[in-house]
Amino acid sequence: MVTHVLYTITLMVRLNWILGILLSWRCAVNAAPADSPMQPPAIFSETTLYPLPNPGDVAVHDPNIVHHNGAYYLFRGGVHIPILKATSLDGPWDGIGTVLDGPSRVKKENRTRPWAPTTVVYNNRFYCFYTVSRHGSRNSAIGVASADSIEGNWTDHGELISTEKGPHAHIWPYSKSNAIDAAFITDQQSGKPYLLYGSFWHGIFQVPLTDDLLSVEDPDHPDAKNLAFLPDEKVMPEEGSFMSYHEPYYYLWFSHGKCCRFPTKGFPVSGKEYEIRVGRSTNVRGPFIDKNGVPLMKGGGTTVYASNRGVVYAPGGVGVISGNASNATDVLYYHYLNTSIGFTDDVSYTSDPGTGRN
Ligand SMILES: *[C@@H]1O[C@H](CO)[C@@H](O)[C@H](O)[C@H]1NC(C)=O
Ligand SMILES: *[C@@H]1O[C@H](CO)[C@@H](O)[C@H](O)[C@H]1NC(C)=O
Ligand SMILES: *[C@@H]1O[C@H](CO)[C@@H](O)[C@H](O)[C@H]1NC(C)=O
Ligand SMILES: *[C@@H]1O[C@H](CO)[C@@H](O)[C@H](O)[C@H]1NC(C)=O
Ligand SMILES: *[C@@H]1O[C@H](CO)[C@@H](O)[C@H](O)[C@H]1NC(C)=O
Repeated sequence: MVTHVLYTITLMVRLNWILGILLSWRCAVNAAPADSPMQPPAIFSETTLYPLPNPGDVAVHDPNIVHHNGAYYLFRGGVHIPILKATSLDGPWDGIGTVLDGPSRVKKENRTRPWAPTTVVYNNRFYCFYTVSRHGSRNSAIGVASADSIEGNWTDHGELISTEKGPHAHIWPYSKSNAIDAAFITDQQSGKPYLLYGSFWHGIFQVPLTDDLLSVEDPDHPDAKNLAFLPDEKVMPEEGSFMSYHEPYYYLWFSHGKCCRFPTKGFPVSGKEYEIRVGRSTNVRGPFIDKNGVPLMKGGGTTVYASNRGVVYAPGGVGVISGNASNATDVLYYHYLNTSIGFTDDVSYTSDPGTGRN
């Protein structure tokens, strides 16, 4: 067993159990034009700093995995938010339905095909936070659905927060940020629930939720905190946050760099593609700092996993399965591109810019 020790032994990420997940490439390989405009970069990172992934046997971008009652549930972006189930992280994964039974109640596009769901258990109820947006747009929303059982039936409650257009979109922090890529954490002391979201616009934000998780507390004056911010975020985006707790620290994980669309948009200079970064704090509200003491609000973030061995390219879309309950180590999971398989996104992405990042 390879155990990766971050900072100290406080956070052990059992990397041989990492669920590395391939981007949906199969359709795209068939559909890609013979004369693809861009060629892959000649040199991939050959670093051996990181171990190879444990492939999870499923093609999903921005995976979200919940361990519940001895089974693993994978929620993915896609039409009505598909749910998959497996008894092992190795798969096989079986589709067991969808969170939504039609388009989201959020009146934005693409409401048929939400992105980046994050599902949590809170007070014995299940909540699925999802994103409705289009690539490159700030006209976004985080929606929420809830259920008594993880396998359904789910009830959609529509939007929780909106940016650019919608209720409260004109007030800070919604006036500056982008309502994508939700994450969730509870304060271990008080039990208070928080939603995280962002970015491409002003980094990662955190707002307190009401106890039913269906609204922001004091919505006219949200007690928001900006937890991570990169001055050059338009060049080097950070997004896809996830927060985990491993006593005594809260860990703020995020993806940094260019995520996707490499064949059409071009490959960035090596090292500017997606990678997984983290910072930590003893306070759920921050400030978060990296291993070198640099605040995440000043562009900090320790790289935990990046392109490696000429095989793994642009890993990101991270999440953590907390191993505390079963006395196991925490498990970090993510998606990546396999350089010997391909770099194109699913063919529907190119025909529908709204779903460029599911
Ligand atoms: C939303 O996504 C679905 C599924 O990919 C697609 O068929 C539909 O055309 C998209 N709608 C809009 C308005 O882009
Ligand atoms: C979920 O809804 C379907 C269709 O309405 C129904 O057949 C089923 O019994 C419901 N399941 C639960 C657990 O309520
Ligand atoms: C494990 O950690 C999670 C996430 O911080 C927390 O919600 C849960 O209460 C913990 N469980 C135990 C048994 O400590
Ligand atoms: C938890 O794991 C540690 C380290 O593997 C082991 O020493 C300890 O006995 C385990 N505790 C329980 C309750 O299984
Ligand atoms: C990458 O793809 C090749 C070819 O399918 C396969 O042999 C290899 O195991 C894959 N590696 C990873 C890390 O996914």
